[in-house]
Amino acid sequence: MEEIRNRFKHHNQRSNEKNIQFIKSQFFELNYRFKYSLFSDKLSRMFTFQKSDHPHHKLALITGSTTGIGKETALGLLIEGYDVIITGRDIDKGLRTLTELKTNKNVTGTVYFRQLDLCDGNSIKDFLNWFMSFEDFNSKKISRLICNAALSNFKKTITKDGFESNFQANVLGNVVLIQKLLPRMANGSRILTLSSQVIFHGSISDNFELTNRDYEQYSAYANSKLLLMFYSYELNLRLDTYNSDSIKVYSVHPGAVRTELMRDAGFFIKRVLPKFMMTPQVGARNSIYVSLKDYLPDEHYYVCQEPYLMPPEIKDDDLRFEIWNKLHEYADDLLENIEIKTD
Ligand SMILES: NC(=O)c1ccc[n+]([C@@H]2O[C@H](COP(=O)([O-])OP(=O)(O)OC[C@H]3O[C@@H](n4cnc5c(N)ncnc54)[C@H](OP(=O)(O)O)[C@@H]3O)[C@@H](O)[C@H]2O)c1
Repeated sequence: MEEIRNRFKHHNQRSNEKNIQFIKSQFFELNYRFKYSLFSDKLSRMFTFQKSDHPHHKLALITGSTTGIGKETALGLLIEGYDVIITGRDIDKGLRTLTELKTNKNVTGTVYFRQLDLCDGNSIKDFLNWFMSFEDFNSKKISRLICNAALSNFKKTITKDGFESNFQANVLGNVVLIQKLLPRMANGSRILTLSSQVIFHGSISDNFELTNRDYEQYSAYANSKLLLMFYSYELNLRLDTYNSDSIKVYSVHPGAVRTELMRDAGFFIKRVLPKFMMTPQVGARNSIYVSLKDYLPDEHYYVCQEPYLMPPEIKDDDLRFEIWNKLHEYADDLLENIEIKTD
């Protein structure tokens, strides 16, 4: 245990290498934004995906898709002929988005909405039970699972289940969801977890800061995204070991996007910074690209449609196993009192 503690400490130090990767990615994004700002959203959409004449009705599930990047990702996949389940915490907002997507004349797939709050174990249970028993999905496998939902709270909050909110919404909720939905995914399907370049500023304490009193919004968010990448990368390796035509797992960073993510932040981040960010339509392009592209190089992390380097600690096998085991322990705690239908 002492050795693992030292590893956590060692990797938590901000290195020049990590700072350089972070700064490089800002230039990378600028270039990407410039490219896309030359075209209107409508025009650039025409280059990225085509309206499907014969919708194939493959199934996609996108969490946190009632607004922002998730909503635009849903639109992109619906235009391509996917049937899409969108989810969000707020039912009214969800129903409004459902109507908006249904009435878009380019949409060829079917769209469904269901409430899902990843900070509430009972809500996860209700969602999974609905999915497992909904007759439209009886014989259907999920082809694209996009773990898009996330939050960034200004103040430390603890969920009803007893976890820090960034940790439960951005990491643990995804672990539970993926674990339960994997049997409903076919070979060749893809899981995307939404990441962020803040991973280069993330650090991990040996109890994932569940008891840390010095809460700070940026660090809590960065740490949760770093943990999620450890999990996604390890999941991809494990699935790949069993079957080369297996489900593939990708981490994707959309770029800096003007959304509601920082709704809880201070004036500068909420009001000034967004003026320099890209639109959700452009931000969703990375998730849509990684979801739809026929062939992707064998890389795990994508930034603005290109493979990108991961923080070096992600490749530390011992640390990853330790994190994987801990996350599953917490997931078991969360699921302890939750009964979920298995088919
Ligand atoms: N925006 C950026 O610059 C940026 C950069 C890097 C990465 N990302 C990542 O991109 C993804 C999408 O973010 P966004 O920018 O589109 O943010 P957003 O506009 O705030 O959308 C987040 C979505 O997640 C949902 N959500 C929040 N907490 C949830 C919970 N506890 N359970 C279930 N759903 C929850 C929200 O639902 P409600 O509307 O009901 O709250 C909303 O639908 C996130 O993973 C984010 O970390 C964003």
